[in-house]
Amino acid sequence: MVQTNTYKTDSNNLYRLMEDGKISTNYLMKHLITNYNPQKNINENNANNSDPSVEDILDELNQLIGLDSVKKLINEIIAYSEIQSRRKLEGLRIDSLVMHMIFRGNPGTGKTTVARLLGKLYKAMGILEKGHLIEIERADLVGEYIGHTAIKVKEQVKNAIGGILFIDEAYSLSRGGNRDFGKEAIDALVKAMEDNRKNLILILAGYNDEMEAFIGSNPGLRSRFPIEIVFQDYSIEELIKIAELMVEKREYKLSKSAKSKLFNILSLKRRQDGNHSGNARLVRNLIEKSIRKQAVRLKDSSIYSREDLITLTRQDFMDGE
Ligand SMILES: Nc1ncnc2c1ncn2[C@@H]1O[C@H](COP(=O)(O)OP(=O)(O)OP(=O)(O)O)[C@@H](O)[C@H]1O
Ligand SMILES: [Mg+2]
Repeated sequence: MVQTNTYKTDSNNLYRLMEDGKISTNYLMKHLITNYNPQKNINENNANNSDPSVEDILDELNQLIGLDSVKKLINEIIAYSEIQSRRKLEGLRIDSLVMHMIFRGNPGTGKTTVARLLGKLYKAMGILEKGHLIEIERADLVGEYIGHTAIKVKEQVKNAIGGILFIDEAYSLSRGGNRDFGKEAIDALVKAMEDNRKNLILILAGYNDEMEAFIGSNPGLRSRFPIEIVFQDYSIEELIKIAELMVEKREYKLSKSAKSKLFNILSLKRRQDGNHSGNARLVRNLIEKSIRKQAVRLKDSSIYSREDLITLTRQDFMDGE
């Protein structure tokens, strides 16, 4: 058993204490998941008091609309860490979980949002030191002459150490065939993953089919990226809920007619552009545009109330006015 004063520590340190076998997983669970109170999570010894706790991050995750498979996976990761530590206490063999991942999904399905949250979660759990997200694409990794690619990859890996290196449209790394430096970038990344096993997580992201082909054509990648998450397109109902969440965060609200107008716009876009219609990204763009239109509308009318300042109306979602 540990001393009472150790109990005052924050979630980061609790995870480390559990890893070292100094506190039990039951104790940790009780504190972090059930009885945890962020207000009490103040540790005089820790300079980063503003860092969110595991509980804060789980709350943030649960606020996201849909994304059931992501929520399930994150619960599995937490449970897995728990059980591994418990096994360690019992002297049983433990394997560390390989955290590198593949995210497959259309634009605007929440890939970047989830990657950022995972970074914060891993930091709070003590898995990653910093938990920041470095989001890059092909041009940041692939050089133009011999030796250039190695330098570029090294630089990006250096920036990402302690956090997550997120490679968007990763399939484009194998685009140029044998004479392209993309292959060299993949090899250098694989080496970096192995050299920095404990303090770097790689996420390869991209559209469904392209990612499938990319992984299929690079044997060895699948086993190195054992966790694969498919981000489904949101239904129109989910997109409306996302819109409501977005406006609420900005202290606005949608009028009933604005909501039905938005529903129509989203349905039409889905019919026209299918899976590439933009999902939650399209919603964000529409909301931001409507906020600008509302501002002009109110400015033009001489009198407006507090309610008017909050409400986005159907008019604010009309095109070309
Ligand atoms: N499930 C969700 N609930 C609430 N907001 C969401 C959700 N998914 C995405 N968003 C919001 O939608 C916007 C776009 O999401 P994000 O950038 O994570 O998508 P993405 O899959 O990375 O897109 P892209 O492929 O275009 O980079 C962000 O503002 C994000 O906060
Ligand atoms: Mg993104």
